[in-house]
Amino acid sequence: MQRDEILHWLKETDEARLEELWARADAVRKERVGDEVHLRGLIEIGNYCVRQCAYCGINACSQGITRYRMATEEILACAREAHRLGYGSVVMQAGEDPGFKAETIAAIVREIKTTTPLAVTLSLGEREDDELRLWKEAGADRYLLRFETSDPALYDHIHPSLPGTLSDRMAQLERMRDMGYEIGTGVMVGIPGQTWDILAQDIDTFRDYDMDMIGIGPFLPSPRTPLGGPDAASHMAPEGLQVPNDELTTLKAVALTRLVCPQSNIPSTTALATLDPKAGRELGLSRGANVVMPNVTPPEYRVLYEIYPGKACVHETAQVCHGCMEARIRSIGRVMGKGPGGRKAS
Ligand code: 5AD
Ligand code: FES
Repeated sequence: MQRDEILHWLKETDEARLEELWARADAVRKERVGDEVHLRGLIEIGNYCVRQCAYCGINACSQGITRYRMATEEILACAREAHRLGYGSVVMQAGEDPGFKAETIAAIVREIKTTTPLAVTLSLGEREDDELRLWKEAGADRYLLRFETSDPALYDHIHPSLPGTLSDRMAQLERMRDMGYEIGTGVMVGIPGQTWDILAQDIDTFRDYDMDMIGIGPFLPSPRTPLGGPDAASHMAPEGLQVPNDELTTLKAVALTRLVCPQSNIPSTTALATLDPKAGRELGLSRGANVVMPNVTPPEYRVLYEIYPGKACVHETAQVCHGCMEARIRSIGRVMGKGPGGRKAS
């Protein structure tokens, strides 16, 4: 599928034609990655952050947030809980926080890898190569780092660099692949300044870089941030060019991503479930996705990990989310994934 065809589908509004897109995406999903839905237990290990990403509610400048950093033993307890619930992997996610020392993370990874069969995914932002290498040697399997946009100007606008460094997530993803990580990335749909052309290029980029995992969710404005505050309108692309942050467009992006990256692991995201609590998860899974990331963070911490308001599941326990996910997966005739659920070989 060429770029202009991706673009055309993104703008498609005819329901009958869209049925064709959904059917194609679901057929490719079934044929290439099967009916199993892989479950990743998400552990939000801390919300300190040194970055100022313009969309993110826990960025360094965000006021009125209680910051936390989970202790090693608490994180390990979450991992054991994920294993007990039958999940094949855990994702340790935090803001970009040098307060999490590389050696602390490495020790946690080592402990999980030696005491459980879990695959371990890290999502800790932009970190030094020697840290990333240390974690790989400790046994980490995968790393998630969404590039958020393939447009250089928009990228710079929403990701102010730290003094003395240049933010380059694409380059980090490539280096991590060379280190042996499975690499995951993704974008938000409808971020202010995102045009249709840019979103089509984002999807093309997933294919060009042969990403192993691709997370796509709607942009949900956080009033604590520049892109969600009173000035939000000033960041928008001109009328007609700006991509809306709605469910339909997100589902088109998921479906198209499945078509161009048939073997990738694609989650039905929490942001989509937040936008449509009733059916968002199921719609994502029915239109290309094959992964879900149930939260296993203790409830007292998950309320503090507020990257956007109203996040799904903030008041639930790991046990409740497990039951909820299982019911949703079964309701659409799919099966719970077994094992770590790594990327299928081509
Ligand atoms: N709306 C939707 N998704 C967001 N993320 C961060 N802030 C928001 C927001 N306001 C996503 C980013 C990040 C992931 C962990 O959460 O894409 O990579
Ligand atoms: Fe958490 Fe449904 S997945 S309540």
